[in-house]
Amino acid sequence: MEDRMISGEVQDAEQDIELSLRPETLRQYIGQDKTKENLRIFIEAARMREEPLDHSLLFGPPGLGKTTLASIIANEMGVQFRTTSGPAIERAGDLAAILSSLEAGDVLFIDEIHRLPRSVEEILYPAMEDFCLDIVVGAGPSARSVRLDLPPFTLVGATTRAGLLSAPLRDRFGVHCRLDYYDADALCSIVERTAEIFHVGIKKEAAVEIARRSRGTPRIANRLLKRVRDIAQVQGDTIISEQTTQTALKMLQVDGEGLDHIDHKLLFAIMDNFKGGPVGLDTIAATIGEESQTIEDVYEPFLLQMGFIQRTPRGRMLTDKAYEHFQREVPGS
Ligand code: ADE
Repeated sequence: MEDRMISGEVQDAEQDIELSLRPETLRQYIGQDKTKENLRIFIEAARMREEPLDHSLLFGPPGLGKTTLASIIANEMGVQFRTTSGPAIERAGDLAAILSSLEAGDVLFIDEIHRLPRSVEEILYPAMEDFCLDIVVGAGPSARSVRLDLPPFTLVGATTRAGLLSAPLRDRFGVHCRLDYYDADALCSIVERTAEIFHVGIKKEAAVEIARRSRGTPRIANRLLKRVRDIAQVQGDTIISEQTTQTALKMLQVDGEGLDHIDHKLLFAIMDNFKGGPVGLDTIAATIGEESQTIEDVYEPFLLQMGFIQRTPRGRMLTDKAYEHFQREVPGS
């Protein structure tokens, strides 16, 4: 699968820049007001009791700031931030090594926690509940289980697929935070903040335009800003204007609603080959030469969210909004 300009996933060579843009406190973190308000109270209460924060689960689409929020939690609690991810922990021993190296109060962040192997998940239960590790030493008839105490810690788990988490794991998180797509105002503020960190001027209308095409996702907004900045620089603009932004986003093939050429390919396939649907997912996949799973997990969610397509029992259908977006006549109207 190619890297898309409008993908919410972090791309190669973006990690360093993400780090430099990352807000460090709840005050600096823009948007997600309800989540911030809850976390502020939970953190303050935990600090007053001199206890670690309850284990916390952050879920929502990629690029909305789950890792950032986890690092802010550690920062606000005044503890170390340790990070790993579900797929990086292959065996129970890998997790045991991480857990036994924690210090009292630490935040352990596990990204993509829905991808933890089952055998590893089982080690996590007593660690989360009783701060202890049950490990088996020896083999065969002489094997026995020993219990090791762990320092109290906070597990922060992040997932894009909360539905894939097993119930026993989900139930062990005391705090559940759902991150939602950002509204245009919040995204605009994020673009302006990032421009300031980059030491580049940007007109309000230009920031609004980038925000509008960023699919509610700060990671996309920051990526678009970077590319627009490059184009502005080559053109000799000292302040990024709306005109330059329009030109740049056109060059990047990101349209007015934040759709790219892959979204267009998918929508036109349904429009032109199947009269707007309904058409089955596998048929669409074969038509555009993509995996059904990729369409379902990667391409389709934003199109559904924006109301360009609908899922029906007989397959996918284009909405009137999709026809209007492409200035095509709605069939049968
Ligand atoms: N950069 C990316 N996401 C951000 C957020 N929510 N607040 C501030 N800066 C950000």
